[in-house]
Amino acid sequence: MVWSPEAIIEKEKRYLMQTYRRSRVVLNEGRGAIVKDLSGNEYIDCVGGIAVNAVGYCHPEVVNAVRAQAEKLMHVSNLYYTAPQVELAEQLAAISGMDKVFFCNSGTESIEAALKLACKVTGKHKFIAAEGCFHGRTLGSLSVTFEPKFRSAFEPLLLKGVQFVRYNDAEAIRKAIDDETAAVILEPIQGESGVHVPSAGYLKAVREICTENKVLLILDEIQTGFGRTGRWFGKDHDGVEPDIMTAAKALGAGFPIGALLAQEGLEFQAGEHASTFGGNPLACAAALASLHVIKHERLVERSRELGNYFMEQVRDAENGLASSPQVKEIRGKGLMIGIELTTPCSDIVQNALDRRILINCTADKVIRLVPPLVIRKEELDKVILGLNEIIK
Ligand SMILES: Cc1ncc(COP(=O)(O)O)c(C=O)c1O
Repeated sequence: MVWSPEAIIEKEKRYLMQTYRRSRVVLNEGRGAIVKDLSGNEYIDCVGGIAVNAVGYCHPEVVNAVRAQAEKLMHVSNLYYTAPQVELAEQLAAISGMDKVFFCNSGTESIEAALKLACKVTGKHKFIAAEGCFHGRTLGSLSVTFEPKFRSAFEPLLLKGVQFVRYNDAEAIRKAIDDETAAVILEPIQGESGVHVPSAGYLKAVREICTENKVLLILDEIQTGFGRTGRWFGKDHDGVEPDIMTAAKALGAGFPIGALLAQEGLEFQAGEHASTFGGNPLACAAALASLHVIKHERLVERSRELGNYFMEQVRDAENGLASSPQVKEIRGKGLMIGIELTTPCSDIVQNALDRRILINCTADKVIRLVPPLVIRKEELDKVILGLNEIIK
């Protein structure tokens, strides 16, 4: 059946829960950092599935890997061994420095697993998280997520006594730790709250405090992982090894997959945790292909270089976006960029869409740019030019 964009938008309203504030565009296909709508109009995509499509749309290597795996075996129970799952775990351990992996299907599930593991290995149930943090929408993840707008309709939440302390303030964590504290959970760079980059040394200081107090450190690398910030993981900027780490989003190049990673000695025993789909062969084949592309095309370095290039352009003293009175601050690392405005940015999202650029507004006033890491320099230039015209 061929439906018009208007019919799709109308039926969406009728049949889907209205959980998303969507832009009025029906996307249909994509290549690299470009997506096309149903009428064939092309958009430069700086949303990238919200930091998912790191290797770009329809990368041939990922498409071929998924196709080949689909023709062989899409799913079997975790009661049996499959090669892609084991190979992916080995590769994730190598790039992250972590010891063991548990696979699930989304970011929030990896957080649930992390919280569960922390409770199990410490025998304690209190968590410390940061103001502004976002860790997911299921009830456990929501318990350690800060913003009342995400939490209030569902309170009381599952975990009691979660303490939120100022982000980028390691001493606040030291003060909040007590005998009941199982773990501290942090994003290496906060995404949803508007791309907040902590000072160099913050994570290292938190690591030391956690070690001194025998409290676990959980780093949520769901948004910052796989080259997004110009290093494999956000933690690598500070050279920090967490006890537990979570990953999802870019891991599967668009195929849903999440992972819990933990240091040696921190693990579940048989029957303590499980996921029907977790680490199925199709998801793992997509992730393996994606990791290969990231390595082979040097996308971690590319993210760093293009991020630096973007910052140079926008901070140009005379014409740069940063000098505009509407811009409060431009921050970020690699291709995880936030442009904080003095006013709400929803009109700017629509304006950019009209100019065929996809951008995301988070925390009301922050334009978040998390494009595919394969975005071409010319495309980034067009985005900078477009934003300059719109914002100024
Ligand atoms: C840092 C962080 N943690 C957790 C999540 C939740 O991931 P998911 O939407 O895959 O459940 C997100 C999603 O935006 C995120 O950015």
